[in-house]
Amino acid sequence: MKRNLNILLFVFFLSTGLNAEDGSKLWLRYQASSGFQPEAGLSKFSTVIVTENSDVIGSAIDELKIASSQMNGNEIRFTGTPIQNCLLIGTPHNKYIRSLNIQKELNSLGTDGFILRRVKINNDSCTIIASIADHGLLYGVFHLLRLIQTNEISNNIDVKERPSYQVRVLNHWDNQDRTVERGYAGHSLWRWDELPGKLSPRYKEYARANASIGINGTVLNNVNASPQILSRQYLQKVRALATVFRPYGIKVYLSINFSSPAVLGGLPTSDPLNKQVCKWWKDKVNEIYTLIPDFGGFLVKANSEGLPGPQDYGRTHADGANMLADALKPYNGIVMWRAFVYNPGDKDRAKQAYNEFKPLDGKFHSNVIIQVKNGPVDFQPREPFSPLLGEMKRTPVMLEFQITQEYLGFSNHLVFLAPLYRECLQSDTYSLGKGSTIARATDGRLYSHSLTAIAGVANTGDDTNWCGHQFAQANWYTFGRLAWNNELTSEKIADEWIKMTFSQNGDFVKPVTQLMLQSREAVVDYMMPLGLHHLFAWGHHYGPEPWCDVVGARPDWLPSYYHKADTVGLGFDRTISGSNAVAQYSTPLRELYNDLDSCPENLILWFHHVSWEHRMKNGRTMWDELCYTYDSGVQQVREFQKIWDKTESFVDVQRFHEVQSKLKIQTRDAVWWKDACLLYFQTYSRQPIPYDIERPVHDLDELKMIKLNLK
Ligand code: GCU
Repeated sequence: MKRNLNILLFVFFLSTGLNAEDGSKLWLRYQASSGFQPEAGLSKFSTVIVTENSDVIGSAIDELKIASSQMNGNEIRFTGTPIQNCLLIGTPHNKYIRSLNIQKELNSLGTDGFILRRVKINNDSCTIIASIADHGLLYGVFHLLRLIQTNEISNNIDVKERPSYQVRVLNHWDNQDRTVERGYAGHSLWRWDELPGKLSPRYKEYARANASIGINGTVLNNVNASPQILSRQYLQKVRALATVFRPYGIKVYLSINFSSPAVLGGLPTSDPLNKQVCKWWKDKVNEIYTLIPDFGGFLVKANSEGLPGPQDYGRTHADGANMLADALKPYNGIVMWRAFVYNPGDKDRAKQAYNEFKPLDGKFHSNVIIQVKNGPVDFQPREPFSPLLGEMKRTPVMLEFQITQEYLGFSNHLVFLAPLYRECLQSDTYSLGKGSTIARATDGRLYSHSLTAIAGVANTGDDTNWCGHQFAQANWYTFGRLAWNNELTSEKIADEWIKMTFSQNGDFVKPVTQLMLQSREAVVDYMMPLGLHHLFAWGHHYGPEPWCDVVGARPDWLPSYYHKADTVGLGFDRTISGSNAVAQYSTPLRELYNDLDSCPENLILWFHHVSWEHRMKNGRTMWDELCYTYDSGVQQVREFQKIWDKTESFVDVQRFHEVQSKLKIQTRDAVWWKDACLLYFQTYSRQPIPYDIERPVHDLDELKMIKLNLK
């Protein structure tokens, strides 16, 4: 029976021409049909010249070999002298690269930047990938391979690339027991129990994937860090991972626990101004660099959500960060100090990070960068940008995006995050006048800080497809691409990813791009439209529980703290007459947000307590608009199902069915969200749900009984 099935499957794949796929290859599939264009002189990579040698260049060559054999069935030949249509890869140490007089151009692109250009050498037309360092060559090779796979290569190619940020880092919230905080793709990739002796082949695949999109750093462990990560035993394991990642240009970083000197080192205190404590950190840092000479530095969550920090000793965030920075400085290490802080006592959680950090502006040492989540609360489907981005003018600030979908349907919902990231990056902070976008405020264009960085909370795990949902891979891809170039559009990123991950066929690419681009707005609509936020259930961040009330719970962990529903209306008053969070934004934003009439309607319930009868710009009452928007979210997901079902002939069986069944879950969840929120808020608005929209299919009491055992 099994044999028959195998034969059947074989015949099926032959007949459809689609290979069996499980998503494990990510966007590095190098399909045979990929767009090789002989006229571009890259048809067979027949000849490649590389005169330099290093582990990083070795990775680049390996990649060319894989790509060439998969796309073209060809082995690469190497030569020492340029011939027509060869590919020349090198730094200015190479005499042919030197002869092109591009040294100045290359210098301006830095060690990670590169030139990819069609040139003439001794009358032969060649394609060059040139950089001042081998990391740039690696990125150049991946860039070339991307252009080939997306059919963007041309005969007179001339590309100059330089990354937007120096440090482009993933944050893994992975614990040493291999659970992943807010991870929805299986266990941690790091098999701590097997390290350092045994190396999973996935470590190298992980490094390849990251290098292909320009990511150059990884924080291996959870921000809620255990002091044990700094023990000798774990540092040996970290070293083993660093050794695998190094040839792909990836540095390792660690999250540290501020109490490590006391808990791990046995000191009586972890006070950052205590001499013994400073010495303990210096010795520890020295030990780390002896094992890992290119170690990147520390990520720190301190005095946040119950974790220890300098405030426990009456010191400031700056005292804590600077103490660590001084220990790392001799080795060029950095401190990424997180600004995600809030206390239960505060009347508006959204204001707290700014209140704590703004007074410390200018007080941090030069190798400290403040890591700020994109929104002032916590990775909600839509938030205004955090006012710290742009307002910390004398301190480098880095963005933290969340790639894992903690608040966006885990790995069950298809949500393409490029529009969310772009919305933040392109927001104008007005901090130095018009045009002070967050992209410019964080990448060194607006403020000339020498350190620039960006972080994404990883969505990877040991699932075969890495991310739990085939389309969640696109968010990992997106983070890397935007970290490399923070001006890329969502359309461009989606187009590249779809073509490399699935198919180049326009009949597939077009509708699927549309679906992806719309998916973020859809999730906002069916979960928390108009600026609503944090309506999640107690104990997990998956489903709705706007009614949630737990005796003795921290008020800022309950949805009612955020939605403030009453018989008058809905929403958090953050205007001058409310919590005055608007004052943390520069003019004219503070005035814009403060005024009910000018406040963008997609954030109106974030900044205002709005009456149910308030007339929206389209003439509907706020209550009606809320109902229509929730309904529109549901309808959009129903539409996604239709779009996807039509793509069956373009997609391999496994991936098609996986996405299809996840879209069913997403649609059911969207209806759940809509019914839960509308039926609950209706108890305050006391108005009917407009009769022309889909009727609720649940009862409120039934929904209140749902208790999911999720984390
Ligand atoms: C959220 C998340 C936590 C995480 C925290 C953080 O609150 O739910 O799991 O630890 O953010 O970013 O530190």
